[in-house]
Amino acid sequence: MTAPPLRFGLIGTGHWARIAHAPVLASTEGIEFAAVWGRDPRAAAELAAAYDAVAHEDLEAFLAGVDGVAFAVPPDVQAPIAARAARAGKHVLLEKPIALSEAAADDLVEAVEQNGVASVVFFTLRFQPRMRRWLADVTARGGWYGGVAAWFGASLLESSPFNTPWRRDKGALWDLGPHVLSLLWGVLGPVTSVIADAGPADVTHLVLHHQGLHDRGLHDRGLHDRGGPSSVVTVTQSGGEAAPGFEAYIWGAAGQSDAPALTSDPTVALRTALTELAQNARSGRTRHPCDVRFGRDVGRVLAQAQRQLDERASRLGERTVT
Ligand SMILES: NC(=O)c1ccc[n+]([C@@H]2O[C@H](COP(=O)([O-])OP(=O)(O)OC[C@H]3O[C@@H](n4cnc5c(N)ncnc54)[C@H](OP(=O)(O)O)[C@@H]3O)[C@@H](O)[C@H]2O)c1
Repeated sequence: MTAPPLRFGLIGTGHWARIAHAPVLASTEGIEFAAVWGRDPRAAAELAAAYDAVAHEDLEAFLAGVDGVAFAVPPDVQAPIAARAARAGKHVLLEKPIALSEAAADDLVEAVEQNGVASVVFFTLRFQPRMRRWLADVTARGGWYGGVAAWFGASLLESSPFNTPWRRDKGALWDLGPHVLSLLWGVLGPVTSVIADAGPADVTHLVLHHQGLHDRGLHDRGLHDRGGPSSVVTVTQSGGEAAPGFEAYIWGAAGQSDAPALTSDPTVALRTALTELAQNARSGRTRHPCDVRFGRDVGRVLAQAQRQLDERASRLGERTVT
């Protein structure tokens, strides 16, 4: 006997909701796209009608009709609504970053843990099939000393549908940083420290130290005594029309291994994230490599980097004044 579908609701009606979340919710096996909530009732009604879902103006009524909630709203809007959803017993498919403050992220983690719901954060790179094959291969081989990653994006161009207020405010550190960190974390282990510096516009550079992944190769060469693997990252969303995009590699005694190119269609990866969330929801498992706790840990690194950038900006400001 097949289990009844899990009913999912979508929070948000913007570009990302329309091109990624809505089509995936409507076409994933075992999922019923049941409801939409957005701050603009007309946009919610329009999006819901396109998928035979119900549009809600009242969040309580929206939550009452679903088993799980997918989010496509800015992170500071997502965090409190997701905590409320988790406290109402709903499973949550979250976007990155999970929040913009450590307090909001901690509250969300507490809500998820105390209510025993499943959570997955859509760190896109961790769900792309080719990237997953690469991750499985390089982590099995081990022996990596470090990584280099750069993402030169163009979302802050006037013409980009991703030129949204929170991105303009927080820049690539919070937008692309989570993706890059989630990948390097998967290969080189948890981040243990970060040094951040800024370039022009929203250009951000990070130097990261990693705990490693119980890597015998590094132990054998005594490299763990020197603090495990390290990596360097540059991200910006101000790369302009000809922004070269994403590239990453890791390196070690065995040479260099390049991460595969990104795929432009987000729906394959998002379907995988939703399917894995639904599997956990059905089986009562709440742990996932990209669950809300991982989202919080990535957010802590971003927050620490942000503090350093803010200190630098205020130091430079003081110097300009004197
Ligand atoms: N994983 C990925 O690869 C990926 C890619 C793209 C985006 N994302 C994530 O998706 C999320 C949204 O993306 P986006 O910034 O590009 O936005 P977006 O798709 O333009 O959508 C923003 C949505 O949030 C709504 N919204 C804005 N402020 C709100 C508020 N104060 N209260 C209630 N609703 C509000 C907007 O409503 P209005 O339409 O009324 O303004 C709109 O429906 C972000 O977390 C982003 O990181 C992830």
